[in-house]
Amino acid sequence: MALRNIVTLPDPALKRKAHAVTKFDKSLQTLIDDMVETMRAAPGVGLAAPQVGLSERVIVIEYFEKPEDEEKEDAPKKVWTLVNPEIVKASPEMLRGAEGCLSIPGLMGEVERHAEVHVKGLNRHGKPAKIKAQGWLARIFQHEIDHLNGILFTERAARVWQPEQQVEAEQEV
Ligand code: NI
Repeated sequence: MALRNIVTLPDPALKRKAHAVTKFDKSLQTLIDDMVETMRAAPGVGLAAPQVGLSERVIVIEYFEKPEDEEKEDAPKKVWTLVNPEIVKASPEMLRGAEGCLSIPGLMGEVERHAEVHVKGLNRHGKPAKIKAQGWLARIFQHEIDHLNGILFTERAARVWQPEQQVEAEQEV
């Protein structure tokens, strides 16, 4: 495994619509392992392949599975790897939250996201996978899938600002 370089604005990879993955070969496995390592080292809770300069529809997320676990200090986090992810259902209820992005250092924004999303895609071996995410996890999925479509949180934010202190790792995706 190896750390990949996280690209930042104005890298054009961040503005491209990424391609669907068709081959579940060794290079995809290496990419996924590297993305997980890179996300952890950043540190962040999510990473999309365009953030390491690759126009491939791959995301990795590491976060609490249930919203109530966010309050528990020792609750384990789970890793999701999703290839060609798609939001198939989104709740009408929206939640506002402060987001940051590893590709836009030093900036935060208030973004409205669906409170719950159902995401389907493929796992790292090409097998179908479906996830129901709520709260902050739902936010992370929406943020990462936006990356695959060349959309950055700043385009969705009601307002953006430069935080005075370093952003908490859990807000960086
Ligand atoms: Ni991001």
